[in-house]
Amino acid sequence: MEKLLIIDDDESIKESLRITLSQAGYKVFVAEDAESGLKQFDRFHPDLIICDLKLPGMNGIEFLKKVKTSDRCLPIIMITAYDDSHSTIEAIQQGAYDYFEKPLDIERLKVTIRRALEGRKISEHLSVTISKDLDEYKLENSFIGKTPVMKEILKKIGKVSTNRVSILIQGESGTGKELITKVIHYSGITKTEPFIAVNCTALSESLLESELFGHAKGAFTGAVKEKKGKFELAGEGTIFLDEISEMSANLQVKLLRVLQEKEFERVGGEITIPMGARIIAATNRNLQKYVDEGKFREDLFYRFHVFKIEVPPLRERREDIPDLVIHLLGKIDKDLHKDVRKIPIEVMEMLQNHEWTGNIRELENTLLQAVVLSDGDILKAENLLFKKVGINKKEFEQRENWSLNEATKSHIKFILDKVNWNKTKACRILKISKPTLNKKIEEFEP
Ligand SMILES: Nc1ncnc2c1ncn2[C@@H]1O[C@H](COP(=O)(O)OP(=O)(O)OP(=O)(O)O)[C@@H](O)[C@H]1O
Ligand SMILES: [Mg+2]
Repeated sequence: MEKLLIIDDDESIKESLRITLSQAGYKVFVAEDAESGLKQFDRFHPDLIICDLKLPGMNGIEFLKKVKTSDRCLPIIMITAYDDSHSTIEAIQQGAYDYFEKPLDIERLKVTIRRALEGRKISEHLSVTISKDLDEYKLENSFIGKTPVMKEILKKIGKVSTNRVSILIQGESGTGKELITKVIHYSGITKTEPFIAVNCTALSESLLESELFGHAKGAFTGAVKEKKGKFELAGEGTIFLDEISEMSANLQVKLLRVLQEKEFERVGGEITIPMGARIIAATNRNLQKYVDEGKFREDLFYRFHVFKIEVPPLRERREDIPDLVIHLLGKIDKDLHKDVRKIPIEVMEMLQNHEWTGNIRELENTLLQAVVLSDGDILKAENLLFKKVGINKKEFEQRENWSLNEATKSHIKFILDKVNWNKTKACRILKISKPTLNKKIEEFEP
């Protein structure tokens, strides 16, 4: 008979778990705090532990760490009454098998217990502590997401932040791909190492190549001295390849080699340089479709596919919007030295019901605009200038009188709105350089 140990100071939970799980055919031991839990653990060698996170005296995480030093593979399921994403990540990082919030979903818990016991031998566990004193990207400060799918993402972050496996993050524009990358970087073993972001669309192919790999002296005209590439500069940290779908076929081959062999050469260089950094790639495209269409290498796709994080669009997790609004508004207030703190119910409803095709970035921009326009401490509906995509009727009718200049202005504005003022993207669509775009913007908005 498999043995379970339950540790919870809440008598009713402890008892109900004891009864249900005994009925389910397990031999169940119980303890009301971590100290006596450790004694039970030494005596009975349970096959699985269910432990509350908040316990009097030694807390659940400390208990987890102690047990893990003597049995790394023992599955431990954490429970807590607190909705605390930081603890979720820490518990998972410390090697907790899973994490349940009160009130417990007993049926799901039973399934999880079964699965954990079955997979006990093959399960791989993690054992690195995260330090709590890094201010920037402190998880509880920067990452909002209480919906189940966001919690799953938090769990994934916890798992990957203790190793350097390559990751693919896929999601619409503005869903938080870069933020997730930074949270992974700053919460795990890479946090004291460099974080380097490269946008694969910002440069021409040959420039991107020497940017990533570096170049030897004399490698091409203008290469007057040798230069280290981003792969080298990233050291043992993280290199973030944004918009990976746009990488040229030639560079895809070279990247594949870096992923496979963990080494590379500078452009025109002879020495082979080891690759110590983790690669996180992001895309707002359906990469599978790119593979099907022959635009992205299948072998490279599968290299990245090993660990994939799919970030859902904001309209599929509207429950997160109020928290995001509060978080973003606080951030904007701080940046602009404003104090827009009061959000009427109907305004929150408007925000929650909006389509947000540009996701969190669009929400953030809308709030930023509203704060700039506010004169008091209330977020007013009239200051929420929702982006309109497309040309409205009036504009359309006026169009027959437009000069070329006016048409250019309208088109630039249309594209900028469409890409949420992401100028890099706008330049790509408009096929103009950033300085040209900036000049146009200045010209049009005196
Ligand atoms: N879960 C979140 N909690 C709080 N803020 C978030 C969250 N996700 C994203 N943001 C904020 O929304 C903005 C857009 O996020 P980010 O730049 O990471 O998106 P992205 O997916 O990389 O977008 P793009 O595809 O356009 O590059 C940032 O200011 C970021 O801080
Ligand atoms: Mg991004």
